[in-house]
This record gives sequence, structure tokens and C-alpha cells, in this order.
Amino acid sequence: MAGNNAKTIATINFKGGVGKTTVTWCLGDVVSSFSRAKVLIFDLDAQMSLTQAIALNEATGALDDRFGKWYETSISRKKTIFDALDQFTKPAEHFDFPVGFDFIYQITDDLHFVPSVEDLYWMELEVFDRDGVKDFIRRLLGKIANSPKLPQYDYVVFDCPPSFTLLSYSVLSCCDLILIPVNPDFFASKGTNLILNTLRMRIEPFPLPRIGVFMNKTKTWSGSPTNESAFYMREVERVCAQAAATQKIDARFFKAWIPERVGVKRAITAGGVPSELVDPFKRLWTEAVEFML
Ligand SMILES: Nc1ncnc2c1ncn2[C@@H]1O[C@H](COP(=O)(O)OP(=O)(O)OP(=O)(O)O)[C@@H](O)[C@H]1O
Ligand SMILES: [Mg+2]
Repeated sequence: MAGNNAKTIATINFKGGVGKTTVTWCLGDVVSSFSRAKVLIFDLDAQMSLTQAIALNEATGALDDRFGKWYETSISRKKTIFDALDQFTKPAEHFDFPVGFDFIYQITDDLHFVPSVEDLYWMELEVFDRDGVKDFIRRLLGKIANSPKLPQYDYVVFDCPPSFTLLSYSVLSCCDLILIPVNPDFFASKGTNLILNTLRMRIEPFPLPRIGVFMNKTKTWSGSPTNESAFYMREVERVCAQAAATQKIDARFFKAWIPERVGVKRAITAGGVPSELVDPFKRLWTEAVEFML
């Protein structure tokens, strides 16, 4: 599609609480702040963690309720992601959903956001046909790329729910990179094996995008991973290499890792990644971008 050069990344893991939302936000924040890139973040999780955190953002949201007012208008004008999907799935109709800044919220000049809505909860219960929804995200990104009202985004990052929804299917079947955070615990290697296999089976017959797996919440001792965290990293690396060799999954374990730091809890609501985490996220980003080339 003309002008659609944005690289698309989906953060996913079926395990809850590994840091999908945190990582999506921190990457978007670091990349848009420290490079010239324009980044668009989607919250595709009906639990709305990211949307709620942005609503509470001390810098851009809660004080003057800029986001709250924008969000209400977006809902009342039927300009949410759910409305877009509703329009897309109407039978035998042209996908008529103009996209502008009533659909996309501007957090900063270079970091923009499409929030989640409660209606996504009900979506899975409706009888949407899987193949009818598959092309939704691809077509929506095409509209965004071709809209004269919107900037050309360099990167689009999706925060996916900890389950395989129709929307995740639509994203995963068209994105350039699937990013999987794992944690240094007993489930690390087993969980990685499980998600790599599940993704392959769910996306078939379509090819899987490249998959980057990395350690989040790495425990450290004077700046380096503890022996235990290093052990889990080697385990997950082995699982990725095995999947790449035996199942033709283009999976790679990233060398970059994100340490466990309590300050990250306020990264979204305080409107900034803690300074000690900026370099780790830059390293993760550099590796992700190199892998997508
Ligand atoms: N590097 C980190 N250091 C310390 N805490 C972290 C780190 N990354 C994430 N957390 C914390 O872990 C918890 C879960 O993070 P987050 O909500 O990002 O996970 P998630 O995978 O999106 O969860 P869900 O499956 O519910 O969507 C949060 O309290 C978050 O602040
Ligand atoms: Mg989340």
C-alpha cells in the first residue's frame, strides 16, 4: 500500500504480568524521545491497562483531563477501534472509517496512541468470523498511512492481551516482529516453547513473522544478571534456537535484557521511563530493529 512504510511490532505472551504493557510503553517512549521516529501505540487489551495508565498520566492526562475529554468525544463520535472493527465487518460494504486525530490521541508530538475500549470484551462473544477479521489491522494501517491528516509513522507497536483474541490474530498475521517478554522463573523455557508452538499453530497456514524473545524483570547483582537469571536466559535461548532449527520459526533470543526495577511501575503514569532503564530499552530497540531489516 502506498506510503505504508511503518514497521509494526506486536508485544505478546499468553502468560499474564510478564511486562507486555510496560515494555510496549517504554519502547514507544524511549524511541520517540531519543530518535526522530514517530511512534503509534495501540492498546488492544480489553483490560485497558495502558489506556487507564495514560488516563492517569500526571503530565498529559489527569491534571487537566485532556485525555479523558478526548476519549469521551472519541467514544460518542464512534471513532474507537471497536467502531472501526464494527465498520470493517459489516457485510458487503466498503470499509468506510475515516481516520484522524479523533481516532488517534497525541500524547506528545512524536508519540501517538489508539486506546482500548470496553466493547472489545464483548467482541469475542459475537460471531465474528476469523477470516473476516484477519485483514482488519492491515487495512486500518493502510488507511492511517494514506490519511493526509496524519503523520507518517515510523513504528507502530501493539500491546496485546494475554490471550489469543481475534484482534491479536489480525495483528500477528501482518506484523513485522512479534516481541515476547519472558521472566526469569521456573516457567521461562517451558512457557517460551508453549507460546512459540501455539503461535505457529494459530497463524497457520500463514507464515509467522519474525519473533524476538527477551528477558524482562531480570534480577541483577552489581549491574549484571544474577546466576539464576543468567541460567533462565540460557534456557530460553536454547528453546528459541531449537524452534528455529526444527520448526522453521524465525525466532531469536535477544542479548538485550531489561532489569527488574521498581521505578518502572510509575513509568506510564509519571510520563517517563526511569533514567536507569533508558539504555536497556535502547539496546532492546536496536536489536529489534536490526532483526526486522
Ligand atoms: N522491568 C520491570 N521491573 C519491575 N517491575 C516490572 C518490570 N516490568 C514490568 N513490571 C511490573 O510487573 C507488573 C506487570 O506488568 P505489565 O502490566 O506490563 O504486564 P503485562 O504482561 O502487560 O500484564 P497483563 O498480562 O495483565 O496484560 C506491573 O506491576 C509492572 O509494573
Ligand atoms: Mg498488559
